[in-house]
Order: sequence, then structure tokens, then C-alpha cells
Amino acid sequence: MSAGHDRPARSLLSVDGLGTEGILRILDLADHMAEVNRRPNPKVPALRGKTVCSVFFEDSTRTRLSFETAAKRLSADTMTFSVSQSSLNKGESLRDTIDTISAMGVDAFVIRHASSGAPWQVDHWTTASVINAGDGWHSHPTQGLLDAYTVRTSLGRTGGLEGLRIAIVGDIKHSRVARSTSMAFRLLGADVTLVAPRTLLPPVVEEPTTEDLDGIIEGVDVLYMLRMQNERMNEALVPSLREYTSRFGLTPDRAARLAPQTLVMHPGPVNRGVEIAVDPGELPGAVITQQVTNGIAVRMAVLFDLLGSGEPGTEGTSR
Ligand code: CP
Repeated sequence: MSAGHDRPARSLLSVDGLGTEGILRILDLADHMAEVNRRPNPKVPALRGKTVCSVFFEDSTRTRLSFETAAKRLSADTMTFSVSQSSLNKGESLRDTIDTISAMGVDAFVIRHASSGAPWQVDHWTTASVINAGDGWHSHPTQGLLDAYTVRTSLGRTGGLEGLRIAIVGDIKHSRVARSTSMAFRLLGADVTLVAPRTLLPPVVEEPTTEDLDGIIEGVDVLYMLRMQNERMNEALVPSLREYTSRFGLTPDRAARLAPQTLVMHPGPVNRGVEIAVDPGELPGAVITQQVTNGIAVRMAVLFDLLGSGEPGTEGTSR
């Protein structure tokens, strides 16, 4: 493996499971993959003969397409399981579905599910690698990794994120991104503060919290805005979206107070006018597009970490 780190586990279920060493191993591998992606023909034979199956029980644009692209750039074969056209609709269970796909010879499942813990369950049922592409409110490890990678590369760093002050703002309670991204930032040494109304915080958090975005906005290195997860709320947790934006949104007034080098991030999709009420294209530190681009390199790194062998080469990445 790169940089002399230990071998990875069979599956990637959470950022915690990777630990600091594992995160650094993936970020270093992502540097190699980003170099591949800058080539005129961004394709290497590293995972030739491997098969990666995407199983998405929830909607996705970025994660699904970037995993598919990542697998293809590493020359893996891809299978896409379409829930709406599957025998799940005839009553087949998730376990039988996984057994059936496994019997076709799959090396990795990339799974997104509305139920927290579903990827752990699948990991018990198959000998293939399982990659958690988002489970309920719980975990979204590749988002945490691509966010850490985006901060690291945007600031020209090569190691961790020691000393950085990062605010994660918004609907923490329903956000698997907040959990995984905060964990990745903190394992790399950053100081993370959660900014949210009390109603949008889980009962227990490890990070310091505040409701006073205006009190901290001028001192942060990274402002990470979260999406309001309306589809996961079954009660009114804020008086109105207008009031939410006035207290917790990135408004033109707040954007004007940001230091020019402050990175502005968002996992997407953005509720325009709610959590971000300015044109991100006019913010000098906005790296939202880079997050999406980096998602491919980071997911290539994850796939290679789990399924590849040898060292990543610079020519053909046949380790
Ligand atoms: N950030 C994220 O997970 O986006 P998608 O839901 O589009 O995959």
C-alpha cells in the first residue's frame, strides 16, 4: 500500500473504522488517482477482472455516478441494481437479493439504504467488500473522505488538518454527512464546531456547539453548510425556512464577512435560498464543485484500497 500504511479491512462501513492512518492512506492514494484523472485518457487497468455492483435504495446523483465512474476508470466491470425493476417488488428479501447478486461473482457492493446499519447487515451476508454509500441518518464515509481530501488539497497540505477551525452548520440531527465529515476532520486534527438550532442537534454530540453563527463566522478556516433534510423530518423543527436562513444561512451579509481564504463547502444537493442564499460562484473560497470532482478520485482510491493489490503505479496503476 502507499506510504507504508497497514493493509485495509475488507469493507468500508464508517470513517471511524478507518481511523487516522486509514484516512491518510486513502487520501494519499487519492493523490495518485487525481493524477490519473488529469490524463487525456483517464483510465488504468488496476481493477481489471473485478466487478463492482451499485445497490441504491435511496436517490443519489453524486455518489452513484462517481462510484460508477471511479470503477470504470480503474477498468472494473460494473453492475447497477435497479430497485424499482428488481424482484424485491415480488417480495424477495434483501438477504436473498444480496445472495443472488453475490452468486454472480461480485467483488464489491456499493450500497445506499434508508435504514441505519443496513451495510453492516449486508457485510455479514457476503464475502464481497461492502462500501457504505450512505445509511439513514448514520454514516456516509466516502463523503467524509472526499471532504477531508478537498480541504487538504485546497489548502495545499499533504498530511492532516491540524489546527484548522471548521464550522459545520445546519441540520446536524438528520445528517449522515455531518457525522462522517466531522469524524474525518477531527481524526485529522481539525477543531470542529457544530452550529445549529437546538432542535436540529442530536441529543449527544462530541463536538462543541453554538447557535451563534455570527459570533464565529469571521474566525473559521472552513464553513461547511449542510442541506436541510426536509425528507427526513416528520415535524416542524424550525419556525420557518425564512427564519432559519436569517439565523443559520449563508446570506450576502455573512458572505461579505468571510475571510477571502475561508473555504465554503456543501455536500449537495443545495437548497438554494435556504442554507446558501448567495451565488456560490461569487464566493472566492467556494469549493463545492471541487468536492464533486474529488469524489471520483477518492472513490477510485477506496475501490483500489479494498480490491487492488501491489503499489499504485504512475503509468498504469497496476500495483
Ligand atoms: N452528497 C451526496 O451524497 O449526494 P447524492 O445524494 O447526490 O449522492
